[in-house]
Amino acid sequence: MNIAVLASGSGTNLQTLIEQLHEDNTSDINIVVVISDRKKAYALTRAEQAGIPTQIVSAKNHINRVEFDAEIARHIENYSAELIILAGYMKLFQPPFVRKYHNRIINIHPSLLPAFPGANAVADTLEYGVKVTGVTVHYVDEGIDTGPIIAQTSIPVYDTDDEESLHKRVQIEEHKLFPQVIKWHAQGNVIVEDRKVILVS
Ligand code: GAR
Repeated sequence: MNIAVLASGSGTNLQTLIEQLHEDNTSDINIVVVISDRKKAYALTRAEQAGIPTQIVSAKNHINRVEFDAEIARHIENYSAELIILAGYMKLFQPPFVRKYHNRIINIHPSLLPAFPGANAVADTLEYGVKVTGVTVHYVDEGIDTGPIIAQTSIPVYDTDDEESLHKRVQIEEHKLFPQVIKWHAQGNVIVEDRKVILVS
């Protein structure tokens, strides 16, 4: 399966997908393009080092967000990507893009959704004072982190945690869960019935 990975940041999740899926000869998953909205995103360097094509799509070069999404969609079509993976991609899609790729966009989020959606999940988790947090992998719908949940992992929050220490432990779990979920999807083992996601083997 051909996948496009979108990333805005350092790209540790992308790196895991490169090593565990793209470079694994037993998987038929290929990352055909990495797209970023930030030209300085280290994720782009990781892609280049792995010989994967990159594209930068900057929001400020477009008159509105629908046009911005449309340029991303053109790249996805040009590279024949069948699945879109959001690996630390920090922009929201407009409804036309989400409808076009219904249940073909998968996001990873650093909390146990529906708790703490949005861009500052780890800081929000600590500020609220919950004792358990985690990682969520879900399909993207038109809301903010509201799409059908495919899988979650829980992680304890310690009294001594700060944002850096908690995010580090969250990322250890992200790097295990994300490749696994993408494999399930690619193998046709994920069935979506409205909000309910069922894993079959
Ligand atoms: C990850 O922790 C991911 O869950 C989070 O951004 C980080 C990217 O890290 N995504 C969101 O917060 C989406 N709302 P990475 O660039 O090292 O993969």
